[in-house]
Amino acid sequence: MQIIAHRGASGLAPENTLKAMAVAIELGAGAIELDVQWADGELWVFHDRRLERCTDGHGVLTEQSTAYLMNLDAGQGESIPTLWQVMTLIAGRCDLHIELKGAHTAEAVAALTHRAEAELGFTPAHWVISSFHHPELARFKALRPELRIGALIANLPLQLAEFAERLGAWSLNCDVDFVDAELVADAHQRGLKVLVYTVDEMSDRDTLAAMGVDGIFTNRPDRFK
Ligand code: G3P
Ligand code: MG
Repeated sequence: MQIIAHRGASGLAPENTLKAMAVAIELGAGAIELDVQWADGELWVFHDRRLERCTDGHGVLTEQSTAYLMNLDAGQGESIPTLWQVMTLIAGRCDLHIELKGAHTAEAVAALTHRAEAELGFTPAHWVISSFHHPELARFKALRPELRIGALIANLPLQLAEFAERLGAWSLNCDVDFVDAELVADAHQRGLKVLVYTVDEMSDRDTLAAMGVDGIFTNRPDRFK
């Protein structure tokens, strides 16, 4: 079962920061997941729509300037990193699952993944691009059809994994609260991997392993070494 550090090693360092990424790498993570949003001409690695929970700033991230975002404290003195800063830190040492949060991310991530392959030692096999925003994911797939994409859901669809197959996804990325054996079997029958978020307890991992799940996103990669 693949272990993916969720928002970096976010149970051990402030989520989606360079520190969380560095801790995940130190722990030998084979893959890291992060969230990206587009603001003021830049891709920022940040999960929430609003800044309050994870920084000392205020407001909606996508409405802010680069100067404002650069100077926020994202925990323990860490800044909100740009995607390029994280790519530079990781430099091809593990797989990177890039979750597109909302509009204007597909084109920018397509461009940056190309650049990281040329300059930072990544290969196309290092990336999985995922999103709950399925139109944005489809736009990405049209831009870079050779890359793996992960179709995210936080529900149990009536037609199970059918939508993910139609999107041309490599994986179905499911919420631990909704995944069941029927969904896993349906996805596998369609040739899809099944990845489940967010799993921090060994007993949950064991339950998911019994269902045949292929990977988990965890805030505590140290527990699954
Ligand atoms: O990609 C798995 C997981 O990160 C999806 O949910 O809300 O944590 O980004 P969220
Ligand atoms: Mg995410």
